[in-house]
Amino acid sequence: MAVQRLVTKTAYAQYEKQLLKEVMEGGPMPDHLAVIMDGNRRYAEQVLDEDITIGHGLGEEKLEEFLDWCLDLGIHYVTVFAFSTENFDRGSDEIDYLMDLFETSLYKIADLDKTHEKGLRVKVMGDRTMLSEEMRGAIAYAEDRTSGHSAYNFTIAMAYGGRQEIITAVKDIAAKVRDGEMAVEDISEETFSKHLYTSDMPDPDLILRTSGEVRLSNFLLWQMAYSELYFTDVYWPGFRYIDLLRAIRSYQRRIRRYGA
Ligand code: IPE
Ligand code: MG
Repeated sequence: MAVQRLVTKTAYAQYEKQLLKEVMEGGPMPDHLAVIMDGNRRYAEQVLDEDITIGHGLGEEKLEEFLDWCLDLGIHYVTVFAFSTENFDRGSDEIDYLMDLFETSLYKIADLDKTHEKGLRVKVMGDRTMLSEEMRGAIAYAEDRTSGHSAYNFTIAMAYGGRQEIITAVKDIAAKVRDGEMAVEDISEETFSKHLYTSDMPDPDLILRTSGEVRLSNFLLWQMAYSELYFTDVYWPGFRYIDLLRAIRSYQRRIRRYGA
């Protein structure tokens, strides 16, 4: 049994090495990778037979690990869907638990040596009026502490909804037109994009979702026009480095034509 396990471990390590080589030689890295982290509760219940809070805790740990992988691979923009506007419909205990985790994580990531060695800028996007005072404090801490960086970008979508983001942009633009600061003729894809939370980012090259669900659930609706999509059955807390490498390899194998 022990020998069996050793063989499996070696085979796994070899496979990972092989995949990494293919990815490093296989074409460009996605510049912007966006992730819908899904399946925390199912992982806890189905895989571990544990309470859902365990799943959320492991999901948070996975996020830190994932960010580390992306930094090592040289992916410049990583955007994750942490909490949607719809997630506020969950029970208050679960919401409080998740928010505590995000808060702790924000402080932690902002203070990591690697964050400053690599030059990682941390940002949160979403409707902050829906977030608590403590959460806004954690966000301000992480954003201020990393505001001098620009080499890498990590954006956490929290209290985020794609339609809500678009409506906010429309209102901003309408107000500018009303006040004479902008002409109707100035409204273009480019100027519209400048009114979204993602104004200073390229659109995502690759959007990845875990847990077997095949939908985008109101994530980056405008920005995903030409994104490649990748869905995997693994639950987020069970997501491994090889799963990331497979997603990137799949992305590299696709020919991106932009409709041309
Ligand atoms: C993702 O896992 C975490 C958040 C949406 C906050 P879920 O909590 O959606 O877990 P499942 O998808 O129900 O298993
Ligand atoms: Mg889910």
